[in-house]
Amino acid sequence: MMTRVCLGLICCLAAVAAVALTPAIVAPVAAQTLSTDELETYRGTVESVFMEDRGGTTSGYASCVMCHTWQTSVRFSLETPNSNAGWSSEQSMRNFEVVSQLINTADPESSRLLLKPLSPDAGGLTHTGGTYWSSADDPEYVALLEWIRSMPEDAFVPPPEPEIDFEFFRACVQPVFANPREGQLRCSNCHSGGLIGFAPAPGRGDEWSDEEAQRAYRLITRVITPGNPEQSRFLLKPLHPDGGGAYTHNGPRRWQSRDDPEWQMLAGWVRGERTGSSCS
Ligand code: HEC
Ligand code: HEC
Repeated sequence: MMTRVCLGLICCLAAVAAVALTPAIVAPVAAQTLSTDELETYRGTVESVFMEDRGGTTSGYASCVMCHTWQTSVRFSLETPNSNAGWSSEQSMRNFEVVSQLINTADPESSRLLLKPLSPDAGGLTHTGGTYWSSADDPEYVALLEWIRSMPEDAFVPPPEPEIDFEFFRACVQPVFANPREGQLRCSNCHSGGLIGFAPAPGRGDEWSDEEAQRAYRLITRVITPGNPEQSRFLLKPLHPDGGGAYTHNGPRRWQSRDDPEWQMLAGWVRGERTGSSCS
């Protein structure tokens, strides 16, 4: 990857421009092909879970596919099914390329595909889409885990995730939430409570308590894909759609493009490059 050998600002900007021009850079590294049998197993085991009608339209009750096509603008973006019967084999192949980035065949239980729908009480991750499996005994969880285990250990191993620094969050990220740009509302106006409450206003004075900051940090890491700012909702939602941002956000667009120095600073943090309490 080009950014690894980049040191200076110019080089970094060039890398950013390259990303904007060639979306292929963030696409799967190697296109894996499946045999007909493997594809059928994947369709029957995994895609059937994505399609499963759960009798509702809200978090925890909607089928995965209701949110995970173009709507979420995250990496887990499936094809819009060709017909009511579901995806064509060709579409499933493309879906598989996306799904293969969410699994870890060297350490199956750590796969994001398994952790997001799993209850945080059972070791899962918080998930905007809700909790689908209350424990690792859920038959869907078991089936997906078995499927991941059935592949060679070195088939799909995601790069190690960088550490997202808490100190930098406190010192340099939280102030972004509290200081609106001209004519805009503060993030804190709308993001101070509930599952999207990663930007609470300080309870007392103008400093966040340790507890407030810890809670906010836990919530913001949910909308971050470590190492991948381009696909982190935190950096997509307030970014203008013309600059590569999300199609929708019920709040303001704080950044017109990824060239915004503030966006760059936050992206560095999401890549694990920015730590400590110096923001400049
Ligand atoms: C109501 C909409 C909604 C539904 C339904 C939903 N999700 Fe999600 N999911 C999201 C959103 C939004 C995100 C990104 C923010 C987050 O991670 O909470 C996400 C993130 C994820 C991620 C992490 C993606 C990444 O790039 O790391 C996985 C994996 C995932 N969901 C799996 C599922 C599965 C499996 C189902 C069905 C059992 C499902 N989701 C149902 C909205 C939904
Ligand atoms: C006027 C209210 C409002 C303001 C101000 C606002 N937002 Fe939002 N934001 C929302 C609402 C409502 C949602 C959920 C619906 C949606 O995705 O648009 C949301 C969603 C989000 C999400 C996705 C949350 C998730 O669970 O996946 C992120 C990230 C986000 N906003 C970031 C920000 C940031 C950063 C700011 C400040 C620059 C901001 N928002 C300002 C209303 C607001």
